Amino acid sequence: MNEGVLEALKTRRSVRAYLPNEIPDRTIAQILTAGTWAPTAGNVQAWYFYVIRDSYLKEKLAAAALQQKFIAQAPVVILVCADLEKARNAYKKRGEELYCIQDAAAAAQNMLLAAHALDLGACWVGAFDERSVVDLLGIMPNHRPLAILSFGKPGHIPTDPGRLPLHQVYSEID
Ligand SMILES: Cc1cc2nc3c(=O)[nH]c(=O)nc-3n(C[C@H](O)[C@H](O)[C@H](O)COP(=O)(O)O)c2cc1C
Repeated sequence: MNEGVLEALKTRRSVRAYLPNEIPDRTIAQILTAGTWAPTAGNVQAWYFYVIRDSYLKEKLAAAALQQKFIAQAPVVILVCADLEKARNAYKKRGEELYCIQDAAAAAQNMLLAAHALDLGACWVGAFDERSVVDLLGIMPNHRPLAILSFGKPGHIPTDPGRLPLHQVYSEID
């Protein structure tokens, strides 16, 4: 049994304040690689990742994300996209509408957990204007931006916001 994994799942938090320390390329590669370890429908890996370090672009991303300023404060931002074309080619409508979204979401979660394992803080940002992000970064038409992930040495680690009690979120079907 690997209780370390369970502990990591439990102790990961959405970190929204960062120190200015740079993140080495090697660490970013580790995070991206962890993303690619996620399961995907048919192992099609219908995802694509954009790494953003440029201050101007991070400011503009924060603006496109309802002025969530911590995005600009993060030394590194990764935009996780679904690859619509790859998924459509493999699985038609269901691939494009569902599998690539699930593939990319699983990759995003892996990246958050990898960051946690590497003593970095990270936050998944879903509230953003897709069109603005596509135009700003010149995203390819077959890539749909799903999550802006911000990464940095934690400036503040929030307390556990808690979860609904288990009995409210599942039932057994006999
Ligand atoms: C799909 C999705 C969208 C989210 N969007 C935002 C966001 O726009 N801004 C933000 O600060 N946090 C965002 N979060 C992070 C959640 O607020 C956070 O995961 C939740 O409050 C639980 O806290 P925890 O991650 O520390 O356990 C998002 C998370 C998910 C999965």
